[in-house]
Amino acid sequence: MTQDELKQAVAAAAIAYVVDGEIIGVGTGSTANFFIDELAKIKHRIKGAVASSEATAARLRGHGIEVHDLNEVDAIAVYVDGADEITSTGAMIKGGGAALTREKIVASVAAKFVCIADGSKLVDTLGRFPLPVEVLPMARAAVMRRLAALGGQPKLRLKSGGADAFITDNGGQIIDVAGLSIADPVALEVEINQIPGVIAVGLFALRGADVCLLGAGGGVRTLTF
Ligand code: 5RP
Repeated sequence: MTQDELKQAVAAAAIAYVVDGEIIGVGTGSTANFFIDELAKIKHRIKGAVASSEATAARLRGHGIEVHDLNEVDAIAVYVDGADEITSTGAMIKGGGAALTREKIVASVAAKFVCIADGSKLVDTLGRFPLPVEVLPMARAAVMRRLAALGGQPKLRLKSGGADAFITDNGGQIIDVAGLSIADPVALEVEINQIPGVIAVGLFALRGADVCLLGAGGGVRTLTF
């Protein structure tokens, strides 16, 4: 199976976690996009969705799925999203698609986090994928110095093919930190969260996944945490 076929398979499997009559939280990225396309087929069963990015909101609306403002929603039964890396305990690196802050907010409201990923995302130790950190632009250099002091190699994310900084949906910038071997994801998440100017760090360990549907050649494997 190709990587896209694996993503498609886990996206289809995630439909089993959708709770009828409820609001669903929807993540961002190529795997989440496959999920949105699957969700469209059963859209009559849900009340609507909360999106973790403008891109996801546009795709949901394009399928005729009602997108709700998080402020108008009391509860989210399930949040479905991809990951850049996930461990066997459900800790993740996310933010390759630059939506980490809203993903973290929507996930924090959800009763259950279902991660959908192709099998290449399962790792023993987080950190081979550069860790995304969203920052306020005026704090960029100061935060980069602090991240370097933690042993990483921070690099400002640029617009693809350009020399300008990439700007997130929130008006933030993204620093990608290479070279970290993250032995204690919860401790590092807490430490980076406390650096002034950090909007969010792409470590999802304090609130990790509850379930991971992993695509492999033999089918979809379910990990529960
Ligand atoms: C976006 C994310 C994505 O979930 C992550 O980058 C995985 O993306 P993909 O499904 O395209 O591999 O965190 O901010």
